[in-house]
Amino acid sequence: MSATIIDGKAFAAGLRGKLAEAVGQLKAEHGLTPGLAVVLVGENPASQVYVRSKGKQTVEVGMNSFEHKMPMTTSQNELLAKVDELNHDPSVHGILVQLPVPDQIDDHAIINAINPAKDVDGFHVINAGRLMTGGKGDDAPMVPCTPLGCLMLLEDHLGNLSGLNAVVVGRSNIVGKPMGQLLLSRSCTVTTAHSRTKDLPEVCRGADILVAAVGRPEMIKGDWIKPGATVIDVGINRVESENAKGRLVGDVATAEAMQVAGAITPVPGGVGPMTIACLLANTVTAACRQAGVEAPRL
Ligand code: GUN
Repeated sequence: MSATIIDGKAFAAGLRGKLAEAVGQLKAEHGLTPGLAVVLVGENPASQVYVRSKGKQTVEVGMNSFEHKMPMTTSQNELLAKVDELNHDPSVHGILVQLPVPDQIDDHAIINAINPAKDVDGFHVINAGRLMTGGKGDDAPMVPCTPLGCLMLLEDHLGNLSGLNAVVVGRSNIVGKPMGQLLLSRSCTVTTAHSRTKDLPEVCRGADILVAAVGRPEMIKGDWIKPGATVIDVGINRVESENAKGRLVGDVATAEAMQVAGAITPVPGGVGPMTIACLLANTVTAACRQAGVEAPRL
């Protein structure tokens, strides 16, 4: 039997369509155009590609996009001054500083200088704390985009996640830790596994939901997967191929996994497109909260 493919590309396109409609309504009814500022320090080629895509998709759904490119030699104080300027700009509702930043800059200090209400990455300690403590209403967190996208795909495919065993492989602040919190908030029994986990294959075999976010090409093999499990592959790894640009693979050995899993996200075309769509969704949510307008249901 072959697993169902979870089409993140199509889901993300649908989400962007709903966002474009919501943005049109915010403009017409409240004179509100959500604005996203993205700051790129230096010339990391992968970051340049991501930032370009973010800007393009922001404009496509009708929002304002502000791109701030700063040189590789930018000091921490110069970047803090940029964040401060954006914090005080009323046309900017969301701020994202593309990571990684150059070595002379402390990324924690920068992230925590962003106004938590404009922190559309959801990386500020206040948002991480609100996610962990289950804040609602005025206390609701901005949720990190990649795990939010994974959760949307899981709920769309499985419906209610309550009681399921979820294993998240990876413990980064960007994906692994917030993913675990989100699954816990949906009443999953969550295990956060990582490179030091004893007998990782056996731990993975207990998962009804397996989220792979380790950044190691095709590390998770077919015989690590419980028959019928739902597998979410967050990895985007470029490996050598006949093609000069290489080939993209996930953290899961997809061809093997397809023989065992019930459903799986492909790479590319699975989680990747969801991340930017969720960034746009967070920007709309942030703009509504800042303007005191009810946020659209997406
Ligand atoms: N670099 C890689 N992923 C991300 C992300 O989600 N947000 C930011 N700010 N930088 C990144």
